[in-house]
Formats: sequence, structure tokens, C-alpha cells
Amino acid sequence: MNNRYLKEEFEKNIPDRIKTALKFCAEAADEKALPIFLIGGIVRDIIISKKNFDVDITVQGNAVEFAYFLQDKYPGICRVKETHDCFGTAKILFDINSESIALDLASTRKEYYPYSSSLPVIEETGCNLYEDVIRRDFTINSMALSLNKDSFYLLVDYLGGYDDLKKGILEILHSESFIDDPTRIIRGLKFSVRFGYNFGDKTRRLMIECLNSGRFDNLGGERVKLELKQAFNINRAGCLSKFINENIYRLVDTEIPVPENIHDLAHITQNTVKDYCNFLHNPDKTWLIYMGVLLAGEAQRKIGYIAEKMYLSGQEENILQGAAALCKKQEILDKSQTRFEVYEFFERSETESILVFFIKNTNLKDKVDLYLNELKNIKISIDGNTLIKIGLNPGPVFGEILKKVLKAKINKEITSPDQEMEFAKNLINPNDRLDKNEL
Ligand code: CTP
Repeated sequence: MNNRYLKEEFEKNIPDRIKTALKFCAEAADEKALPIFLIGGIVRDIIISKKNFDVDITVQGNAVEFAYFLQDKYPGICRVKETHDCFGTAKILFDINSESIALDLASTRKEYYPYSSSLPVIEETGCNLYEDVIRRDFTINSMALSLNKDSFYLLVDYLGGYDDLKKGILEILHSESFIDDPTRIIRGLKFSVRFGYNFGDKTRRLMIECLNSGRFDNLGGERVKLELKQAFNINRAGCLSKFINENIYRLVDTEIPVPENIHDLAHITQNTVKDYCNFLHNPDKTWLIYMGVLLAGEAQRKIGYIAEKMYLSGQEENILQGAAALCKKQEILDKSQTRFEVYEFFERSETESILVFFIKNTNLKDKVDLYLNELKNIKISIDGNTLIKIGLNPGPVFGEILKKVLKAKINKEITSPDQEMEFAKNLINPNDRLDKNEL
């Protein structure tokens, strides 16, 4: 291994406040004679000049004890936020120039997977760095950068991560890696989409073998969800195409129907998310549009089953169910004549569900746009109190009257608040008026 120092890359790509926190850690580590390193994604991102504020530090020793040592050494500047003794990890916060900087500390650890798709079991903590590195996913994520004074900036690259990074190749570290943890396939998908990298030949062959093996019954749906979310939230057509074409979808469910026109569908999805981003208030839900596109033709029960398997929240499942329900009644919108019929079709649907519907029915763009740009925002100025004031008995009829007023407003039959009031009065049946004594 030839010595490569990443001084220039580190100085250029790490913000000053993080550098200061790292220097504090380095000083403390030297005092304790503990080797400490930046590790994983942050080292990768320093090399390729990508912003990354997830600072992972590995301590060749006990990271929890080191965290408390830092807190004692820098009172008022450093505090331990949380520790997990069983994992040998700690989160610490530095307060530098009134800014809070979070660092994750982990003891080096050796792990094994008792069976395929299981969670790893820690065999040893405080082991040497090499043992810690070989348990990881891809060579590009297996690099460490020394923070100790004598070797500051030194890149520790046992497995050729630097060259793979420069070549844009994703290589796993050993042939059982995907079998141990199939979510690494989705992580590979994420990195391939994020950085434009490709799986190396051997890694690709092992991915195909793993996906064909179907050995992921034990795979936790919440882990699949976490990785899938990150991959699809990047909003790249290539992510959906690869997810389908490379059979990665099998990790979610082996029976997801494969759309024929996946290439076009993927591009329409990417463009729709981009074009309608002003309507999407939470970019973190973008991934549900991609999932919705794949599941739009599925029965409610099947979507419920997948939602349960992936530990989706109620709202996340609603988006998928809502999208499928809209797609199934597409004919109603197709035949709609009035503005109110368009309104009623989409009323109360989540924007993500509406966009899935649009992606599957681009011929109905005008009506989707009409709803999102205009109809969705139309409100009437009268409410239940107004109806009581004009002498109506509270009851189910309130909803009907207000809906008729809204319908008239949406259909542009009335425009002003006075007209709404007049319209409501004309709708009132004399029997529904309040008795004088009740007033
Ligand atoms: N890792 C792994 N296998 C996994 C998940 C993570 O080996 N299934 C390792 C990788 O070495 C990774 C590190 O744990 O670099 C930290 O994981 P995470 O923070 O999820 O990944 P990053 O590489 O930092 O990726 P991102 O930039 O997407 O956060």
C-alpha cells in the first residue's frame, strides 16, 4: 500500500467548523495514544469533492470511553449526546462559535452474519482497523483517513477503494457480502445513480446470483425502506430503470409486475417530480411516487401487504393506496365535463398520489394541472356559523349546502361572498330553519 496523503482534498472539502472539532478529537486521541480515523462515506466524499456533513469517526479502542474523555477535556465545548455501549458507539456535540457540530464515534469492530440477511453480530470491538474495514459494503466506502498528529491526512486504503473511486467502479469486499446483507444491492443502486458509477463485473455477477437466490426472507423491510428511500429520493430515471431491469425490485416483493415501457415511465416520473416540485412540500416523499408508479395497478390488499412488510407509516400507505385508487377510476376523470367533477375526482388526494396518476395518464394533464393550480385552492367564505346566523338548524344538511355552494363557486356560477350567501339562502328548505325560541 503506497502512502497517499489527502491534505489538499481535506483542507478544501471539510468546512472550517468541522476541521476545528476534528483537531480537538485528534489532540485528545494523541494524548490517549488512540488511533482515530475518519471512515466510510466522508472519506469517499472528500476524495470526490462532494459535500458530506455526516462525520463518522472510528476509534481503534473504546469510542464510548473516548467520548467521555473528550467531554471532560473540553468542558463547555464538547458534550456526549448519546452512547450505545453494546455497539461501542457514541454521538458527541461540539459547540464551536455558537454552532453545534455532531460527530459519530464508533469503536472499530469485527462482525459476522449468523445467517443470510440477518443483522450483523459484533464479535469484537477495539480490533484493528483492517478488521473493521473488511466488514463494510463497497471498496469506495472502506477507506479511512488518519487524524492522529503523526499521520494526519494519511489515507488508509487496504482494499483499493481510491482506484475504484477514480474509475467509478463499485466493488464489494467478499463474495458473501450481498448474501449477508442484500440491502447493499440497493445501496449500490443508490451510489450508481448518485455518482454515475457501475458495478464491477464480479460484483454484478454476485448481485445477480443473490437476487436469483431469493435468499432474503429474513431481510428486514425497514432496512429495505431506508435504502430505497435514499435511492429514489435522488429522483433519477436510471434508478427506476435499474431497479426493474436488474431485478432489484425482488428485494421488496418478487411479484411486483414489471412495466413494459419502464424506460419511458422512468423518464416521465423523473420529469414529473422536477416539473411539479413546487407542489411537493416534502422531497423526502419523492420515493413514494416511484413506488406508486410501480404499484398503481395492484389490488388494495397487495399494497397493504407490501406497506406492512416495509413498515410504511399510515400516510405513506395512503399515498400508495390513493394513487392506485385514482388510477383504477381513471375513466371518471376522462369523461368529466365540469370543473367540479375534476375537483371531486382528486378531492382530498395527496399530491404524490395525484402525480402518480398523472404519470400513468399523461393525456389528462390539463385536468391534473387545473386541479393542482386552481381548483385545489378554491375555498368558500361561508361556513356552518354563517348558516346558523341565517337561521338554519345544525345537522347533516350543512355539509350538503356548503358543498353545493362550493360546487357553484368552482363551476364559476357564483364568485363573490355575497353571491355565496344568496346562493345558500336559496337552498335552504323552510323546514330546516331554527325555531325562533331556539335562537
Ligand atoms: N455500511 C455497510 N453496509 C451497510 C450500510 C453501511 O458496510 N448495509 C458501511 C459503509 O462502509 C458506509 C458506512 O457503513 O460507508 C456508513 O453507512 P451510511 O452512513 O449509511 O453510508 P454512507 O457511505 O455514509 O452513505 P451516504 O453518503 O448515503 O450516507
